[in-house]
Amino acid sequence: YNGQCPGPLLRIPRNRPVHIRLENALGEPTSVHWHGIRLDNAMDGVTGLTQAPVAPGQSFDYRFTSPDAGTYWYHSHHRSWEQIGRGLYGPLIVEEDTPVAVDHDLVFLADDWRLDEKGVLENTFGSLHDAAHGGRTGNWLTVNGDTRPPLKVRPGARVRLRCISAANARIMAFSFPGLSPMVAAVDGQPLATPLPLNEPLELAPAQRADLIIDIPPTSDTQFDIQEVSTGEPIRAAVMAVDGTPIREKVLGETLVLPANPLSGIKPDLIHARNMELLMEGGAMGAMNGAIHQGKMFDMRSLVTETGKVWAFNGIAGMGKEPFVEIPRGQTLSINIINDTRWPHAMHMHGHHFKVVERNGQPVSDAPWRDTELVEVNEKVRIALVADNPGKWLLHCHMLEHHMAGMGTWLSVV
Ligand code: C2O
Ligand code: CU
Repeated sequence: YNGQCPGPLLRIPRNRPVHIRLENALGEPTSVHWHGIRLDNAMDGVTGLTQAPVAPGQSFDYRFTSPDAGTYWYHSHHRSWEQIGRGLYGPLIVEEDTPVAVDHDLVFLADDWRLDEKGVLENTFGSLHDAAHGGRTGNWLTVNGDTRPPLKVRPGARVRLRCISAANARIMAFSFPGLSPMVAAVDGQPLATPLPLNEPLELAPAQRADLIIDIPPTSDTQFDIQEVSTGEPIRAAVMAVDGTPIREKVLGETLVLPANPLSGIKPDLIHARNMELLMEGGAMGAMNGAIHQGKMFDMRSLVTETGKVWAFNGIAGMGKEPFVEIPRGQTLSINIINDTRWPHAMHMHGHHFKVVERNGQPVSDAPWRDTELVEVNEKVRIALVADNPGKWLLHCHMLEHHMAGMGTWLSVV
């Protein structure tokens, strides 16, 4: 976007309309989705559901208002497994009404790339093998489009690190040896009580976390940020401490980000509409077949004739009918059942949700999220208040899984 990858950092105010014009200079259609923003349905950027693809040479005016401050991102939502995989994404920050008291506000946008021996991006996008397994994972890691970039900070500084995963499929995990980050927000939504990061920060595709990191005042060294998901730590970036100390003593108080409007909302589980979403398919799965575009296929013909390998409730890919139609204002509760051999990063458009039950056990005070990792054999019940009218996608953000059938939609009327 604008000649760079990641695209330009967009910083927009909360609660004020913004206008962003997409000009399509590609040789193929595209669109932009504002991931995690609870915006007007017509601006959600989902081709085939909320808008027509923007043809080469054409433009599209996105106009929206974000009710929530926080860390978001934008990306293509057309053939996303390839367009995001090739770099059509960027960070999107919605500013708090009054600036938050940090010394450095830094973006940490991670992606992995699959390179061949010559270091060239492998042109194997949309591979059915990837789609049936864990998706397209890469062998080269970048942060903010760079390899092991230094993030410059002053001694004693309080840093807000906005971590974003733009990976197609890899579940990344970051550790911060020598530092003690606090998790202040996930998926853009502040935690009422920030939590110390006691284990590596897990980021499934599309997830975000805002970390508050206090750099020791006496340190003049550097701190590695490591990606540890494979068990062999890789240096992802470096906190390069330099300059005169900003303060002599570490700040005592932990920083609590100002609440977003969602903090006052409670899903009404008593009067909720209860649904089940059964995920099936993929390699080593037990699926026998599924319906695609109204037609029943056995597993073999599903794969060879439609390129689909996954299904939600027996339907592979988008149906004509919504998964559920729900009146505006009602609580929707969905028990997501992962009956596959692979984890899935489930993303809900236009709404944030809370996990209210895991494997049948109630969960209290889960944070508001827009993307939740559902592990193998797990049952995760999420709840949301369906307060945003329109057609909203619900899909796996492992982009090859979405391509190969893991997407449905719901209608808020
Ligand atoms: Cu990040 Cu359907 O999108
Ligand atoms: Cu998936």
